Amino acid sequence: MNKQYEEVEIKRIADFHHSLNHCPIHLFGLRRDAEGEYKFTYSAGSMLDELGVSIKPSPGTSLNDLYAKELIAEWTDPLEKAFSGLTQTANINLGVRSIRTTIYPVTGKNQDILEVVGTSYITSNSELENDQNLKKFKQLFNHAMEAIVLCRSNMEIAEVNDRACELLQLSKEELIGHSADQFFVGNGKELIRKKWKEVLYGKKIKGEFRYKTPDGLVKEIEYSCEKDIVDKLHVTVLKDVTDQKLTEQKLLKAEALNVVGELAAGVAHEIRNPLTSLKGFVQLIQNQTDEFDQYLTIILTEVDRIEHIIKEFLVLSKSNSQNFMMSCVTDIINDTVDLLNTQAIMKNIEIKKDLEDHIPLIFCDPLQLKQVFINFLKNAIEASAVGDCVEINMKLSREKDFLQVQIRDYGCGMDETVMKKIGKPFFTTKDEGTGLGLMVSTNIIKHHNGRLDVKSKKDKGTMFTITIPIK
Ligand SMILES: Nc1ncnc2c1ncn2[C@@H]1O[C@H](COP(=O)(O)OP(=O)(O)OP(=O)(O)O)[C@@H](O)[C@H]1O
Ligand SMILES: [Mg+2]
Repeated sequence: MNKQYEEVEIKRIADFHHSLNHCPIHLFGLRRDAEGEYKFTYSAGSMLDELGVSIKPSPGTSLNDLYAKELIAEWTDPLEKAFSGLTQTANINLGVRSIRTTIYPVTGKNQDILEVVGTSYITSNSELENDQNLKKFKQLFNHAMEAIVLCRSNMEIAEVNDRACELLQLSKEELIGHSADQFFVGNGKELIRKKWKEVLYGKKIKGEFRYKTPDGLVKEIEYSCEKDIVDKLHVTVLKDVTDQKLTEQKLLKAEALNVVGELAAGVAHEIRNPLTSLKGFVQLIQNQTDEFDQYLTIILTEVDRIEHIIKEFLVLSKSNSQNFMMSCVTDIINDTVDLLNTQAIMKNIEIKKDLEDHIPLIFCDPLQLKQVFINFLKNAIEASAVGDCVEINMKLSREKDFLQVQIRDYGCGMDETVMKKIGKPFFTTKDEGTGLGLMVSTNIIKHHNGRLDVKSKKDKGTMFTITIPIK
């Protein structure tokens, strides 16, 4: 090397070394000697002055001369790790202050570690606490069960967690840097801007909006916003309330149906009186003349049928409570079929009965069992196409200890996804359904210590089997 150049270079390094002494850091090199003692190879920076350490380490000064034993003990572990090739960061607490040190291994030609270099600087503990708090906050943020969005004052999204991406079905890149008002359409945009101003004045706001995912799925989302949760960032928590809303709507519908049921029961009651006089007068005419006898007999049988149906209807709408007694299931099934035949006939569906003779009376709640058969037959009729048939059969098990009722249709059947969901409250595939029939039936069967089995094949049909113990 050119001697003049060398001199310039040495001067430059010396100047640099000198200027480092005005920096509030400690830049150092350390070696481990044969006795395992750490000795300085280099030292610069003014941090030691700030700490009040009077010794200025020169090459060969031992670390022990500089700091108290207890302090060095805290450095031993990271130092040893650095000598084994791992970069280390350590914080040493000095009360109100801490020394933060990072140590890097320096490898020689043979990849052996002869020396480590490090930088230390003083941090105030509040800074450290802030750092730790921020770290904790980040962990909370990322692992929170809630979907969280952090926005700047202009509503620009600064950060989102994974749950928020999941909920909105958008990636972080698609969200961060964009305005949060994009989720509100039409008037909603103006409204949220207004509300956002309130957030900036420190008010907590809450609301709901309807969101369409990129897949076209519509979700009902609840949001709540709060000012300045961290450093000029305002937090918005999102919650998917689609299912909850749906359940609420269905409950309302079920409630409305209840009311309709009560009304219908009232109407049925009112029909009974004129029907009685109608019947009386027809009988009167029949007694007085032989003319039209054939027609009058038909009128009377039809009136009887109407009466029977109304009676059934009234009984059903009256009682929800359990009323166990010894009852004849054959009668219950016959009554049920009578009740549903009108609906079946309208679809030109024949309900075929095959009921074993000599079925013993069983201890049950006859009204509730009727409710069960009605639900299954109604479902079977609804699933069937015009002109199909629905079968109901009953037999005793071989040991005569169980009663088995099967309701079978050749209708639309169910695929696996539907099969998994049936019996859950409010699950329905019908526009007019409430999705309560199977749930109520399952519960009643359970109360009778019975069992329900279902077999179904898409487009082929369905068979429900109810098994109830005789005793
Ligand atoms: N026999 C059947 N064939 C095909 N699908 C059926 C049958 N029975 C039940 N299901 C399916 O199960 C769902 C739930 O039936 P459930 O009786 O509980 O409610 P629903 O009939 O839809 O309404 P509700 O009975 O309250 O009027 C139905 O919507 C239908 O998809
Ligand atoms: Mg039903």
